[in-house]
Amino acid sequence: MTVKLPESFFRFAVVGLLVIVAGLIFMLSASDSQAVSLDPQDSALKPLDKPPADQTYIGTKQCSACHFDQFMTWRQTKHAKAFEILPAKYKEDASCLECHVTGHGKPTGYKDASSVGLEGTSCEACHGPGSKHAEISKDFANKKLSEEESVYVRSTIHKMLPDNSCADCHKSKGHIPHPEFDKE
Ligand code: HEC
Ligand code: HEC
Ligand code: HEC
Ligand code: HEC
Repeated sequence: MTVKLPESFFRFAVVGLLVIVAGLIFMLSASDSQAVSLDPQDSALKPLDKPPADQTYIGTKQCSACHFDQFMTWRQTKHAKAFEILPAKYKEDASCLECHVTGHGKPTGYKDASSVGLEGTSCEACHGPGSKHAEISKDFANKKLSEEESVYVRSTIHKMLPDNSCADCHKSKGHIPHPEFDKE
């Protein structure tokens, strides 16, 4: 037995199909002009104009998981010890922490002894906070990156903060004397 469908059904079906096709075309063209996606699976890995601004501080340990060589060299520098060398009575002194820890006074930066991985001039003092960089990088860790992937991942964090962040702390070799303090 054959079921005879009314002609209006076919008209509906054709119109419905057209709507779906038009929708697909729209979605494809929209995704093209959209602000760059943070999804690493995005086939077109367009590098960001600049690293995302709203990143939070995550601390040296997390950075080191992917950048062990840089961690090992940094570990030998005086920057790594900039908090350690503060005499005990200054370890909570905001007027010292300003330059002897990372991100002091910033919402997610160093606060107190519980802020592990932000002591001293750590990674994010020079590269800026890196939470999103770390998140995005997960899919690219432990493998050889293509040129396109490398450029994309690198665009999610600063090679060096754009303002002269060295000078934020290194004023004392210029014209401003280092604050006085008791050595013991
Ligand atoms: C999950 C792994 C992962 C984590 C965590 C991670 N990174 Fe990266 N990072 C990468 C990869 C992958 C690259 C690209 C390397 C390449 O192109 O060979 C990269 C590149 C960089 C670059 C180079 C940027 C440039 O312009 O060339 C810097 C600086 C950097 N990371 C700093 C950090 C800091 C600081 C942290 C911690 C806040 C961090 N990374 C955490 C994986 C990671
Ligand atoms: C404006 C940034 C800044 C502030 C604020 C600051 N320091 Fe420093 N400190 C530095 C820098 C940069 C160095 C590295 C040497 C230099 O350039 O003078 C340093 C070096 C040191 C050293 C090692 C060298 C030495 O002289 O023994 C100690 C200890 C020290 N600071 C303690 C303190 C204490 C304590 C305070 C708070 C009373 C403080 N700093 C406030 C930036 C600062
Ligand atoms: C005092 C500032 C400073 C600190 C602290 C610092 N870096 Fe860097 N880092 C730099 C500068 C400047 C460069 C760029 C060097 C260059 O262009 O060759 C760099 C380059 C890098 C690169 C890119 C290397 C490449 O292949 O191009 C990575 C990754 C990196 N740093 C990770 C780290 C990590 C992880 C830490 C903490 C363990 C850290 N950095 C601490 C200043 C710093
Ligand atoms: C968050 C503050 C801060 C930032 C940012 C910073 N430094 Fe430092 N730097 C320090 C402090 C504090 C010391 C002293 C640490 C110690 O004596 O243990 C130091 C030490 C040094 C030393 C070692 C001096 C010596 O006597 O051996 C050099 C070199 C240096 N910094 C260069 C730089 C450069 C270049 C940059 C930027 C790429 C930079 N620093 C960014 C705070 C900072």
